[in-house]
Amino acid sequence: MDAKNTLIQHTIVGVFSLAIAAVFYFLFDIRWSTSFARVSFILLFLALIIGPVMKLKKPAEVSSPLAIPWSWRGELGIWFTLTALVHFIFVLLNRSFFKLIYVGGGGGALSNFIGLIALLLAIVLTFTSINKVIIFLGVESWKWLHGLTYVIFYLIAAHFIYYQFFSTYGEIGPDWFGYLASAMTIIILILQAIAFVMVIKKRKASSLENN
Ligand code: HEM
Repeated sequence: MDAKNTLIQHTIVGVFSLAIAAVFYFLFDIRWSTSFARVSFILLFLALIIGPVMKLKKPAEVSSPLAIPWSWRGELGIWFTLTALVHFIFVLLNRSFFKLIYVGGGGGALSNFIGLIALLLAIVLTFTSINKVIIFLGVESWKWLHGLTYVIFYLIAAHFIYYQFFSTYGEIGPDWFGYLASAMTIIILILQAIAFVMVIKKRKASSLENN
């Protein structure tokens, strides 16, 4: 991917992320920490659906992550991590870290702990997206590592499900974001199931051809 293209894509994703966060804050009256949390979740969702959608358009196997000029995944992934970090920083402005995560802290502390694991994994994956690191790791290790993106997604799903459905930090019960994020989680689950079935079908077809 050439540097100019990447810069333009970063600018577009960055402006989009900040604009959505501002819309949430100014128009929907949602505090900054939650606005950035929501933007971060949306970016991760977009990064994850791009793969299967692009596969439908470009069925060819991707030989290297560096050879995907049509993908926005890298930019979405980096901005996902950045906005998640901003979410974490805003959360820390109001509460001390040890009040957020502590032994005996119940569901909230567990949910925050899960969020922290997701954030640490996201930071690791962001650093391993640097071209030089990808070359150093090799495509296979890079692919294995980035399969963890789904783990991050499900960790965040558990994190938001706690706040939306099992806590009373806002109004009791989910709001529009709770329903939207649940639908997005189901979409990712369905896409993963379809991808799994397609892999099995492909394996079966190639083993029939070989026999
Ligand atoms: C990759 C990292 C993370 C992502 C993507 C993320 C995302 C989210 C999402 C989507 C929500 C639900 C917002 C809503 O109900 O509208 C949320 C809520 C929340 N998260 Fe996270 N989170 C992350 C990490 C963390 C960490 C590390 C902490 C603290 C240790 C944390 C603390 C909270 C808190 C306190 C809330 C309740 C809403 C608020 O105060 O803004 N999150 N997060």
